[in-house]
Parts: sequence; structure tokens; C-alpha cells
Amino acid sequence: MQVPYVAFRDWPVGITQQVEQEVTRVLREQQFILGPDVQTFEDAFAKFLGAGFAIGVGSGFDALVLALKAVGVGPSDEVIIPANTFIATANAVAQLGATPVLAEPDKLTYNLTADTAAKLITTKTKAIVPVHLYGQTCQMDELMELCESYSLKLVEDAAQAHGATYKNQFAGTFGDAAAFSFYPTKNLGAVGDGGAVVTSNPELASFVSMYRNYGQQEKYHHQLVGINSRLDTLQAAVLRIKLKYLRQQNKERQRLANQYLKELQGIGDLMLPVTAEYCSHVYHIFNIRTSRRNELKNYLQQKGIQTAIHYPVPIHLQPAYSYLKYKKGSLTITEEVANTSLSLPLFPGLSKAEQEYIIQSVKAFFLNQDF
Ligand SMILES: Cc1ncc(COP(=O)(O)O)c(C=O)c1O
Repeated sequence: MQVPYVAFRDWPVGITQQVEQEVTRVLREQQFILGPDVQTFEDAFAKFLGAGFAIGVGSGFDALVLALKAVGVGPSDEVIIPANTFIATANAVAQLGATPVLAEPDKLTYNLTADTAAKLITTKTKAIVPVHLYGQTCQMDELMELCESYSLKLVEDAAQAHGATYKNQFAGTFGDAAAFSFYPTKNLGAVGDGGAVVTSNPELASFVSMYRNYGQQEKYHHQLVGINSRLDTLQAAVLRIKLKYLRQQNKERQRLANQYLKELQGIGDLMLPVTAEYCSHVYHIFNIRTSRRNELKNYLQQKGIQTAIHYPVPIHLQPAYSYLKYKKGSLTITEEVANTSLSLPLFPGLSKAEQEYIIQSVKAFFLNQDF
């Protein structure tokens, strides 16, 4: 059997047809940039989250840059981010001329905590960017308290956490602003690049909606030296359809995750995802850990099962960030997570037979019972 790491399946049945109809409609209407489709999706996404505003932008990376810029991050500022995130979080900080300061994650949830962030605060610190990694929310109360007591800005990287909650409140609604990505494989994914800045602060919302569109509020009247980072009309139309199914798809992700959790408990030295109290997990990524990661990955590959690693080389060991002067061994938890993590296939539409085959193969690897 061949099992892809991720695939776009028609789940729930009928979603593909609706998406195709929307694509055709937009092509026929010939409004390709902004317009009512973008506005409608922005309103629907903000409403879904319980936030004041969602502003569609070109990508999750742009959403981070714009959110950070909106809260005032600029050259010579320091911004604390988790060391074990996708490189975009760090690049967004660097893009604004600020310095990313890397914090170790919690050993069990792999998320940034107020404890590790607090140790890194200096007079230059401007903001903290918690990343709701793999789809699990960070402990937001403590992070919000920390930011408040040091007058720091809080910008959430919610690129992997559409629909995840902390104490029944959606990720992306805690900070001054939040960044979402609609990269196709995300829990809410477009059919190309896309992202959104979410905020309940009208001034930040107005800044972002002008800045993403050459700094104009009205055509050819520019208040700011802005950029072009608009959410495509086509993507917005597709996202509006897919948003309706986000809850259902997240539930399916949770069901699949629970099946893995049940079946893989106590197998070999496997460490399975741990969900912290109050933090819900929408399993954008189902991450397991083992000291035999590379061997397991190769074994599954031979069995026809694709897996992924999030992320094999931590930011502080990337050539691009050698200027930060972190040494190998300086962020031990982050390095250990990078060396032992493996992501198993988990997406809406993964079949029962496929998941059983994955579980059986993982068990066979650890129990030396090849089949
Ligand atoms: C944690 C995190 N932040 C930011 C991004 C950037 O999003 P995009 O690829 O849409 O630029 C991603 C995903 O790719 C991500 O996983």
C-alpha cells in the first residue's frame, strides 16, 4: 500500500465540487483582485474566530511581517520566538531589521512558555511571538501576563492552528495581532498562497489593510509607503467554502489523532503528543518522537508510507542565522526535538485501512515483526 504524507481528498464529500464551482464563478466574474469575495471571507473568518478584523494578505509570512510591523517592531528591536518553529517566524522578524531571540520550548508540548521567554527579556525586547506549534495552543494566560507586565507586544503565529482553542477561545484572538497562513496543506488551506492578519484593534487593522495594498485607502491616494500583499480573490472564494468545513475537518483530525494515541501508546521508546490542560489541539501535524527516528522513517518509506520531519535543522543551526552566533548544543531541547521528531500522515480523508497500515507498520518496526 502507498500512503502519502498529505493528500487533498474530497472530505467531506462534495467539498471539491463546491470549490471548483467557486473557481469557475470567479473566473467568469473577472474580479481578480480584492472585491466582495475577499471582504466576505475576511468578515466570515473574523466572525468564526470571534475577532474584530481579519485582513487577507499574500501569505502567512507576509501576515507575520505585517502584524509585527503594525505593532511597531523595527530595526534594533529584539523579538522573542520559539527556537523550534518554521523558519518563517524568524525571517519575518529579520525582515523588519529586528533580531529574533530564540527561546527553548516546553519539553512535552514543544511550545514556547512564559518561563523560558521571561529569561530572554532585555531592554530591547519589543514583542513575543508564541507559535501554536503543530496545532496546539500555547499557555496564553501566562504569556499575556508576561507581555503586560513588561509592556511587550504579543503577536501570535497561528499558521498551524486554525480552530484550536485555549480555554474555549480561538488561537489568534489573544495577542495584539495574529498571523494565519492558508498554505494549501494547512487546516484551512487555499489553492495557492494566502494568509491573514487577525486583530481586534481597529488602528492595527486599518494599518494592515492599507499597508498590504500600497498604503492606499482609496485608489491612487497613498497614506503609507506600503507593499503589495493582497489575498487573491480566487483564494478568498475558495477559503470561504472551506471555512464552513473547518470544524468538521478539525474533528476528523482529532479522531484520527486519538486513534494513533490509543494504538501507539507504550510502543518502543515512542513519545506521543501531550496536550496541556486548557489547550486544544487541532493536529495540523501529528508529531511522534523516537531515538530511532531515521531508521523508523526509512522503514516506513520501504513500506510505502511517506512521513515528514518538522523540522530537521533548527533555526539557530541554519547558515542563514549564523550571524546570531548560537552554537551547536546551546539549545538542547530544540536540538533534541529536531533529531527525534517524525510526523505521521494525518489529514481529513485518510482512510481507516491506510491508518491501520501505518499503525501496524510502526508497531512492526519496534517489535521487530516485519510483515
Ligand atoms: C509556524 C509557521 N509560521 C509561518 C508560516 C508561513 O506561512 P506561509 O507558508 O503561508 O508563508 C508557516 C507555514 O508555512 C508556519 O508553519
